[in-house]
Amino acid sequence: MKKRNILASIDVGTTKICTILADVSDAAPRIVGVGISPSKGLHKGLVVNINEAKESIRDSVRKAEQTSNYRVESAYVGVTGRHVSSNNNHGVVAITRNDRVVRPDDLKRVLTTAQSIKTPADRKLLHIIPRHYAVDGQAGIKNPVGMHGFRLDVETHVITAAVTSIQNLVKCIRSLGIDIEDLVLEPLASSEAVLSEDERQVGVIMADVGGGTTDVAIFREGSIWHTSILPVAGYQLTRDVAIGLGLPFEIAEEMKKKYGSVMPVYDGQEDTAPAISKDGHGVSYQDLCEIIRARVEEIMKLIVLEMPSSSYEELTPSGLVLTGGSSNLAGMATLGREILDMPVRVGIPGNMYGIGDMLQDPAYATSVGLLLWGNKHQGKKQRKSGGFAGTIFKLASQFRKLFR
Ligand SMILES: Nc1ncnc2c1ncn2[C@@H]1O[C@H](COP(=O)(O)OP(=O)(O)OP(=O)(O)O)[C@@H](O)[C@H]1O
Ligand SMILES: [Mg+2]
Repeated sequence: MKKRNILASIDVGTTKICTILADVSDAAPRIVGVGISPSKGLHKGLVVNINEAKESIRDSVRKAEQTSNYRVESAYVGVTGRHVSSNNNHGVVAITRNDRVVRPDDLKRVLTTAQSIKTPADRKLLHIIPRHYAVDGQAGIKNPVGMHGFRLDVETHVITAAVTSIQNLVKCIRSLGIDIEDLVLEPLASSEAVLSEDERQVGVIMADVGGGTTDVAIFREGSIWHTSILPVAGYQLTRDVAIGLGLPFEIAEEMKKKYGSVMPVYDGQEDTAPAISKDGHGVSYQDLCEIIRARVEEIMKLIVLEMPSSSYEELTPSGLVLTGGSSNLAGMATLGREILDMPVRVGIPGNMYGIGDMLQDPAYATSVGLLLWGNKHQGKKQRKSGGFAGTIFKLASQFRKLFR
């Protein structure tokens, strides 16, 4: 029987951990296992308590293993947080061989030169993504291999992260006996799940408004152009409601999810949302929605401030695609269109078959996107293990798996 090709992704979010196992042996990936657990030990996308985070991850992984009957041995893992930074770079090399044909090796060389500024010791290079190439000045080439020329240029998007923040996340996952296939910046993963090829080509902003962070990715001419992580999202919405209405945080969260909306409340609609707590907290529906709306407006304005100029309608004609758990709030797309004056829609992850129905919620854009990213980049990654240290690491990893 043909050996199945199983991929796993672990989305370590501020509010939930989601592990997905998918069979990618055939053209269409099929989800075979899902494990969702509440997240502990995280703040604004970062691990702040290793033991708590590890237990939440373990729980989510176990659930995914139980539903699928497969073991998670390695996984694609999402990275987010304010420590991530990105910039666009340029690289150039000469094609010196006699036949002047661009080979795959030249692509590697030119990407290395694009990373001209050496990554400092406290930063880890996460991605160096070629946006487009130019051969002898002819720009906009996606794949120059096989073309003739003297000079090869590349435009890249380079993403780095703080080593210490990454180490904490990596430590939690490796201590469970799971190897990391690749660390993927979360907005890149979410984009895989919710954007169409057309939108990327025309120009689009994707914003994953989660629990602890709003992850932004901007695409132009089919390539990533800007990424950034804003430290404000659903958690702040709940905190505003809790403080504004004098409610305990858990009740404010429940109120927000059950009755929250960003649409204006008109006269005559100002009834009070029924009490939903045991202690009978009742609040004005209008107050609840106004508090939420004010913060959502601020988040939306922060998202478009990521654009280099106010002419964002020209730079991203496809507008804004919102995703992440907080985009479940009623009226998000309408409010976005109203205040930003551009097309706005809410993106729900698709492109997955199997038991993935429960994942058709914007909260799972990163989780599903990590798998789609993994499937797309599988094999492209250069495995870095090797030598004595690599062997020792593999042995240690096998032992950890045995004792998990
Ligand atoms: N129906 C809803 N209405 C309003 N908010 C909602 C709704 N459903 C979920 N949320 C909010 O979405 C947030 C969680 O979103 P998500 O699952 O995308 O975050 P996360 O991945 O855990 O965190 P992050 O990516 O920021 O680290 C929570 O703040 C939650 O209150
Ligand atoms: Mg998330």
